[in-house]
Amino acid sequence: MKTAGAIALVTLGCANAFVIPAGRTVVRAETARAAEKINTIEFELDKPKVVTMDSVDAGGKKVYCRCWKSGTFPLCDGAHVKHNEATGDNVGPLIVSGPKKE
Ligand code: FES
Repeated sequence: MKTAGAIALVTLGCANAFVIPAGRTVVRAETARAAEKINTIEFELDKPKVVTMDSVDAGGKKVYCRCWKSGTFPLCDGAHVKHNEATGDNVGPLIVSGPKKE
């Protein structure tokens, strides 16, 4: 099975997750309020941080949640739509596509 290679979804204490390709570093200044909990769905609370490793097959696509409201976290289930309507926010998923099939 041909894959696009491993990716890392890293949460940084905010409502975003980032895909960091191998060999690349992402630095982001974070100004979120420290007292505000993001992981309200209580996903993997037994771990010190939520990190998801995954890969995408050739011709495949995966859609990852960045709003922390999904019932299928870390995958998006569309819950961001209801969140955006209720709050005026504009969060949406991270969509990762694999390479085209040969
Ligand atoms: S459900 Fe969270 S981004 Fe879609």
